[in-house]
Amino acid sequence: MEKEIKIWIDGTEITTSKNKTILEAAKENNIYIPTLCYFVNTEPKANCRICTIMINNRMLTACTTPVADGMEIQNNTEELTDLRKSIIELLFVSGNHFCPTCEKSGNCELQALAYKYKMLVPRFPYEFPHKQMIGKGSKILKDQNRCIACKRCIKTIKDKKGRRYFATKYRGYKLEIVPDEEMIKTISEETAQQAMDNCPVGSIIKKEIGFNMPIGTRKFDKTPIGK
Ligand code: SF4
Ligand code: FES
Repeated sequence: MEKEIKIWIDGTEITTSKNKTILEAAKENNIYIPTLCYFVNTEPKANCRICTIMINNRMLTACTTPVADGMEIQNNTEELTDLRKSIIELLFVSGNHFCPTCEKSGNCELQALAYKYKMLVPRFPYEFPHKQMIGKGSKILKDQNRCIACKRCIKTIKDKKGRRYFATKYRGYKLEIVPDEEMIKTISEETAQQAMDNCPVGSIIKKEIGFNMPIGTRKFDKTPIGK
């Protein structure tokens, strides 16, 4: 049996077990910590930093930090709210996010977080980068304007042999997540839908069926993220 330990999140006592991350312990206790790159049952890589929490004045990512007995975690402070908001703003200015025309609007985690953190005008200048649309010869359209490089598609979208449909291209600031040219030609309808669903934004769109779910009835239209 796993050893039970106690931690505190914003003063709330939680009993959990030793091998959990802070994010997992919080989730099990219905405490919301925002995430973007995290995807359940995959190894967290701390790409986005939106899940940053504080322990003893140190900022750490909740998705990668294991719990320890007696840990006192801050998840809801002005500083963290502002940091998380600034991450959302950076993601908005470094891409081209045209929400009103996006099939994922209302189901988009980035948009929902922008609402949650009350983003109006980002504090950073818009970069308006020149981005590609990649769609030839497959069932999906990969819109690079909206990709936030969270890598959830790389981690979760594979064929039966474990081969990945998405890959990285370039490094550092130029990093892009692109479909594998050969693999993507073979993607099934079902996997294409899964890729679209697992992407937190509208960067992977399954072709041909659009706006099946009317605006106003989508996930975050009904319930704000984190509620
Ligand atoms: S396509 Fe979507 S899931 Fe893949 S890295 Fe970009 S934002 Fe993340
Ligand atoms: S969700 Fe933890 S770093 Fe992205």
